[in-house]
Amino acid sequence: MTPVRVLAVASEVYPIVKTGGLADVAGALPIALKAHGVEMRTLMPGYPDVMRLLSGADEIRRWPDYFGGPGRLLAGSHDGLDLFVLDVPHLYARPGNPYVTTEGVDWPDNGVRFAALSRIAADIGHGLVPAFVPDVVHAHDWQAGLAPAYLHYDNRPRPGTVMTIHNMAYQGKFDRQLIGSIGLPWSSFNVDALEYFGGVSFLKAGLQFADRITTVSPTYAQEIQSDEGGMGFGGLLRERSGMLSGILNGIDTEVWNPQTDPHIAYRFGAGDLTFRAANKAVLQQQFNLDSSDEAPLLGVISRLSWQKGLDLLLEALPTILNQGMQLALLGSGDRDLQDRYQAAARANPGRIGVMIGYDEILAHLIQAGSDALIVPSRFEPCGLTQLCALRYGAIPIVSRVGGLEDTIVDIGEAGSSDREATGFKFGPVTADALAATLGKANTAFRNKATWRRLQLSGLATDVSWRNRAGDYAALYRDLMASRRA
Ligand code: ADP
Ligand code: GLC
Repeated sequence: MTPVRVLAVASEVYPIVKTGGLADVAGALPIALKAHGVEMRTLMPGYPDVMRLLSGADEIRRWPDYFGGPGRLLAGSHDGLDLFVLDVPHLYARPGNPYVTTEGVDWPDNGVRFAALSRIAADIGHGLVPAFVPDVVHAHDWQAGLAPAYLHYDNRPRPGTVMTIHNMAYQGKFDRQLIGSIGLPWSSFNVDALEYFGGVSFLKAGLQFADRITTVSPTYAQEIQSDEGGMGFGGLLRERSGMLSGILNGIDTEVWNPQTDPHIAYRFGAGDLTFRAANKAVLQQQFNLDSSDEAPLLGVISRLSWQKGLDLLLEALPTILNQGMQLALLGSGDRDLQDRYQAAARANPGRIGVMIGYDEILAHLIQAGSDALIVPSRFEPCGLTQLCALRYGAIPIVSRVGGLEDTIVDIGEAGSSDREATGFKFGPVTADALAATLGKANTAFRNKATWRRLQLSGLATDVSWRNRAGDYAALYRDLMASRRA
């Protein structure tokens, strides 16, 4: 196995900074890649949490003026991850969420903030750190999208580049004037480069200039080549489809292990699923739900955004209530959805429980204690909560899109597949189809043998990174070989 060195570039990395699944992937993949002969280091911005956790990191470079203020490049490690940190206080030393102000609006200088990250990635690609000269630069999402563009316009020998799309909806769009201040030539303002509806898009830069494009499931790789799923980039991706592939995400099976999970009330494995009942009782207590083993308890752990289809679940609440089911929802995001869920909980005490916020511990308890986990997304590049659900014996009820389609086997399709059924899928993504499937799940729940079979096939499903990391390793090697040829 030829050793491969890869510089990953990500704006969030679990367990240091996380707003969504991107962080989970960026945190777990480097560790899983070690077994495949890939040495990965991850470059991320020096947000306050990063600087606190990496206080002992080594300074590698220092600049008096990096994009308008002093900056440093640090190298250090945390929790098994080897990191480069771009410490530029005037860009990253800000409280709270990495992308938005405390009022929830995008930082006005996000273009410069993430151009700076990509610029240093390209420099490391050119050999800025002699101890780590990468064979491949792997950019995640729009925040890293300029890295392949800088490497292209630098016009020097360069490493191979990979761009991974975690979510087509976030495109990193900025005013064209930005080009003048981030060290790219004006020739990049062109429809075959960064230009996008009169402005620039960092995601487009990555899609245009990376040697390979990946996304996080095979079905999403197909969907984004349509005009609708491509959200503006369908044409570009159809043109580059030979370079595009879908590699499913895994989850960190150490963090998500019901046999050792410190966050749940009672630990369990496939042999003692009955302990789930005890977790269900605690979950019901925490969400102020009636204590009942008989009522199917549906869980949701999600960002509250249009993507996630949780407005459809609101419309399906009458089915949940009429059929004697309960709902425990943990999420945050759109103000309107938060308000509507809180109102539903107030109107249906004991039946609907809602916690608005971000709470990792509660997320683990929902996986361990709910009977089913609902993911009714309008689109879903991969989705991670349904993978955790498989591992915890909560039966996924998901829409037939993207990675949800690829990771769950519907109860009705097991006959025609060589895989055992693990859950329920509905389509089209409408409230009616969701309600009908909730009804189906309710009936299945009443048949203990059917339900147990679903749980056991879920628990037997490989949701780890082991094999999926191997697909990335093969992609890097293939890219290196094709560049040598
Ligand atoms: P996305 O990245 O689109 O939000 P994913 O399913 O890929 O969706 O990943 C979401 C991740 O964030 C999962 O690890 C999930 O458990 C976690 N998560 C989402 N919302 C919350 C929340 N309110 N509290 C705790 N964890 C959450
Ligand atoms: C995005 C997607 C989600 C995916 C995650 C990690 O946030 O919305 O489907 O699982 O990235 O790849």
